[in-house]
Amino acid sequence: AYTAEPFVPGRGGLPALRKAAAGCRGCPLHRDATQVVFGAGNTDARVMLVGEQPGDQEDRQGKPFVGPAGKLLDRALADAGIDPGEAYVTNAVKHFKFTQAEPRKRRIHKAPNLREMTACGPWLAAELAVVEPELIVVLGATAGKALLGSSFRVTQVRGTVLEEEIHGRPERLVPTVHPSAVLRSDDREAAYQGLVSDLEVAARALS
Ligand code: URA
Ligand code: SF4
Repeated sequence: AYTAEPFVPGRGGLPALRKAAAGCRGCPLHRDATQVVFGAGNTDARVMLVGEQPGDQEDRQGKPFVGPAGKLLDRALADAGIDPGEAYVTNAVKHFKFTQAEPRKRRIHKAPNLREMTACGPWLAAELAVVEPELIVVLGATAGKALLGSSFRVTQVRGTVLEEEIHGRPERLVPTVHPSAVLRSDDREAAYQGLVSDLEVAARALS
């Protein structure tokens, strides 16, 4: 089975993890991506935000949530009273998956499958073990399935505080929609307000 496990160092904190992730060959997604996009933020962050996988901009820049979805997320966090600079931000899958009709044509995001999410899980587990956040904000269905299993339904649990064992540790989680879903929504303003009110639940759980 695909797995990142043999590539994950057992010690050395975030710098060692970030360095080792650049050489991960745990699943085929590293082949077509430009580079790994590891999590960003401080070891002492109180909140960890988990997205799906890097997008086009993230793949080019090597940093999570720097494209349009990231801009929207930062604004929503600030509106909810969470300082984006104080959060640790990462993804369930660390390499960009896409389809491309021809070279030099636009790269279109493709959702990672269960095998790829499972393969990449050891990186997320290692990030959780090092950062030990007080709260995990789960951004959308892929992150939810990666952390909470395939029966996860974002519409059923968004904006609530869940207590679950994740990779052997008791965690508190607040699921919400993915910021890309807000960008795609027919009623963007309502979708944005929904995201902010879920993040306000997270802000209250942190205070
Ligand atoms: N969407 C994600 O899920 N993660 C990113 O880093 C960017 C867009
Ligand atoms: Fe490794 Fe994850 Fe990249 Fe697959 S997606 S190669 S498991 S870092």
